[in-house]
Amino acid sequence: MPLLAAPPPRQLQPFRPRRAPAASVAPAPVVASVPFHGRSLMEYVRFFDLEIEALRGRDVLDVAAGPSSFTAEACARRIDAVAVDPMYRRPLADLTATVESDYARVEADTQARRRQIRVRDCEAVHPDLPDAMVFGSLTEALADRRLSAQRFLADFETHCPHGRYVGAALPFLPFFDRTFDLVLCAHLLFVEAARFDFEWHVAACRELVRVSDGEVRIHPLCGPEGRPYPKLPALRRELRAAGIASEVVAVNYEFFAGADTMLKLRRAPTAA
Ligand SMILES: C[S@@+](CC[C@H](N)C(=O)[O-])C[C@H]1O[C@@H](n2cnc3c(N)ncnc32)[C@H](O)[C@@H]1O
Repeated sequence: MPLLAAPPPRQLQPFRPRRAPAASVAPAPVVASVPFHGRSLMEYVRFFDLEIEALRGRDVLDVAAGPSSFTAEACARRIDAVAVDPMYRRPLADLTATVESDYARVEADTQARRRQIRVRDCEAVHPDLPDAMVFGSLTEALADRRLSAQRFLADFETHCPHGRYVGAALPFLPFFDRTFDLVLCAHLLFVEAARFDFEWHVAACRELVRVSDGEVRIHPLCGPEGRPYPKLPALRRELRAAGIASEVVAVNYEFFAGADTMLKLRRAPTAA
C-alpha cells in the first residue's frame, strides 16, 4: 500500500462562459459621486443572511462591490465569486488614491451621524436594541472597513487580470442570462436612491435578475437617514408586472437605524 495514494481524478466541469461579448452590452455612465467604500464578508453574511458553507462551489456575483473584501474572502473559501463596479475600469493606483479620499469622507460623515449608528458602546442611546450589532464601537467598525479595502486592493492587483473584478455599471451587466446562482447588491440602489430615477431602479433590478439563475438580494432598503425608499411599493408592482417576484425580509443586522431589511428578487414561477 503506497504511503501516498493517488488522488481520485478531478471531475472536470463543463466550460461555461460568463462574460457576454462586449459589443452586446450597452455602455453605461459611471456615477462618480457614490463613495468607493466597502465592507467585509462578515458584514455581508449578516446583512444578506448568507450561509457560507452552502455557497461553496456556487457562482456568486457582487454588484456595486466597491473596495469590499467580500469577493476576495469568498474566493478564499472556494466560492466562485465575481465583483462588478464601474471603478474597476481604473488602474490600481487610482483605486488606492480613491480609497484614501473616500474613506476619509465616509468616516467624517459616519462620525457626524453617530447617534444613528448601532454599535454596542452606544447601547445607552439605543436600549431597545436586539442582537443586531456586529461591532463593539464605531472605531472598530471603521477599522474593519479599512482592513476590507486593504484586502480588496491586494486581491484586485492579483486577480483582476483573471476576470474576478469586472468594470461595469448598472443597469448593464456584461454577463449572459442566468450566469450566477446568487446576485448581491449592497449600499447602492436605495441608500443612494436620490442619485437615480425610478426607471433606473426598475432597469437595475431587472438586470440583476436577468444574470441570476436563482435569487437577488439587495440591502438596505432605506436612505442613510433611515427613511425607507418611498417608491418601493411602486417598484415592486412594476417588477411583478415584468414577471419578478419580490419579498422584503428582516435581517439580524442594523448598522444604522432603519437598515435592518433586505429585498429578495427572483423570476416569478410561470404557469405551466
Ligand atoms: C458604497 S459602495 C458599496 C460597496 C459594497 N457593496 C458594500 O456594501 O460594502 C457603492 C459602490 O457603487 C458603485 N457604483 C456607482 N454607480 C454604479 C452603477 N451604476 N452600477 C454599479 N455600481 C455603481 C460605486 O463605484 C461604489 O463603489
